[in-house]
Order: sequence, then C-alpha cells, then structure tokens
Amino acid sequence: MSEGWHGWDQYAPFYDWENARTMGRRDVEFWRRLAARTAGPVLELGCGTGRVAVPVARSGARVVGVDRSSQMLARARRHARRARLGPRLTFVRTDIRSLPFSSHGPFGVVMAPYGILQSLLSEEDLDATLAAVSRATSRRGIFGVDLVPDLPAWREYRNEVSLQGIFRRGSTRARLTLVETVRQDRPRALTIFDQEYVEGHEHTERRHRFTLTFRTIGVRDMCARLDAAGFDVEAVLGDYDGSAWDERAEVWLIVARKR
Ligand SMILES: C[S@@+](CC[C@H](N)C(=O)[O-])C[C@H]1O[C@@H](n2cnc3c(N)ncnc32)[C@H](O)[C@@H]1O
Repeated sequence: MSEGWHGWDQYAPFYDWENARTMGRRDVEFWRRLAARTAGPVLELGCGTGRVAVPVARSGARVVGVDRSSQMLARARRHARRARLGPRLTFVRTDIRSLPFSSHGPFGVVMAPYGILQSLLSEEDLDATLAAVSRATSRRGIFGVDLVPDLPAWREYRNEVSLQGIFRRGSTRARLTLVETVRQDRPRALTIFDQEYVEGHEHTERRHRFTLTFRTIGVRDMCARLDAAGFDVEAVLGDYDGSAWDERAEVWLIVARKR
C-alpha cells in the first residue's frame, strides 16, 4: 500500500533540478508576505529542500521547517547553512500527521505550500493533520494552504520524456532525463507519478526509479475541512498575487484564520 511520504528520499537529489524547471520561485513572494503577518515563528509543513523556508527566513522571519524525508532535510540544512541563517531557520524531522507541538502552539503562521496536504492519501490522514496543525497554531493564527489544481484532469501516459538537461552532482556533470508515467486511481482520487531519472555519464548510465502519489481535494471540500478543524476561511485565491479563485484558476490557494 503506497503512502504519500513514500518516494521523497529517492526524489531528493533531483528535486531542486526539477523545480528550477517547473515551479521555480513563483509562489515564494506570496509566502514571504504571509509570514510577515506574524512577529512570531512560522511553521512550514513538508519543507523539502527549503525552496520556500530559506527565502522566507532570509527576509527576516523565524522559520521551523518539518519534513519526514531525511534526504530532503539534508539538502534543506545545506541550503540554510549556505544562506548563513543560523538559528533563524531550524528543521525537525517529523510526520505532519503528528506534529510535536502542543495546544495553542507557538506558530502565528503555518504554511502548507505546493500541495503538501495532497500527500495525505486518506480522509483520516487529512483529519489527523488538520487537528495537529490546529494545535500548533496560536489563537487568531494564519494557515495558508496551496493545492496543486485538478490533478484528476491530468492525462494518463506511459514512459514519456518530460524533462531533460544537465545535472551537477558535486563536481561532476551528467545528462539527466526524467521519464514519467502518470496513472489515475479515480475511485480513490489518487494521481500516481512513476518517475525514472536516467543519469547519463560518459560511459555509464544510472537509473533511479520511484513513485509519488497525491490525492486531490477540491477547494470547497478543503474549506469545509478547515472550518471543521477550527479555522475561518479568510480568502480563496486563484493566483499568488491575490486574485479571487474561480473554477478555472491555475492556482488553488486558501488563507484561513484560527478561531
Ligand atoms: C512537494 S514537496 C514540497 C517541498 C517544499 N515545501 C517546496 O514547496 O518546495 C512535499 C514535501 O512533503 C514531505 N512529506 C510528504 N508527506 C509527509 C508527511 N506525512 N509528513 C512530513 N512530510 C511529508 C516530502 O518529504 C516532501 O519533502
């Protein structure tokens, strides 16, 4: 049985390479502005390699990033060291379904960027996580949730080359190709990405295979779940500049406040 946290350790060496070509930094300014709404510390759920946590901390916030993948966190720690952020940015290896923070927790802002809540593959996992986030959020604290839109509408395909480029590993350079298969499990609202990264050196080729699974949650459904977990929805946005959401929006972004 696959779990949403599976695959990320194997993905870690390639995550920054892929994201430089896909998501990039287009959401970072939004998270910076959200973090600026508290003087206290900010929590990022599923901080990965620090793509969001590092620039948010660099602009002055105190940030705690949590992630279950030790390989993603190792990269995040390296990026934080390079940015000389010191104690302003700390990392905790934990599962977001059981955050180690107690009632009326210390966080004035909690960030859930880039579909992290879609790594929760069952209703029970989502419920457990929202309850844990509610405990970790201070009274009147803000919870921002970014959902990857409409994954069930993605077409299914097998073994397509979706990215190619030069990849640096330490001092060596390789040709890197991502060969991808996308499957839909519609009854369970799951979208499954089988990834094969082919790392080509002069005389050798290494193949890295892993699977990532995501569950789609609609915007209205997520708003209802946030309400049930003790949050009032303040805004539903359709881009990172603050435009209102509609059914065709390319970004599904919810900002909620703890009651
Ligand atoms: C899409 S990445 C996002 C990384 C980063 N926030 C960003 O925007 O680039 C999702 C991250 O969530 C982590 N993750 C998935 N399920 C998790 C869980 N149940 N508990 C903690 N972390 C989890 C993965 O290890 C991965 O690093």
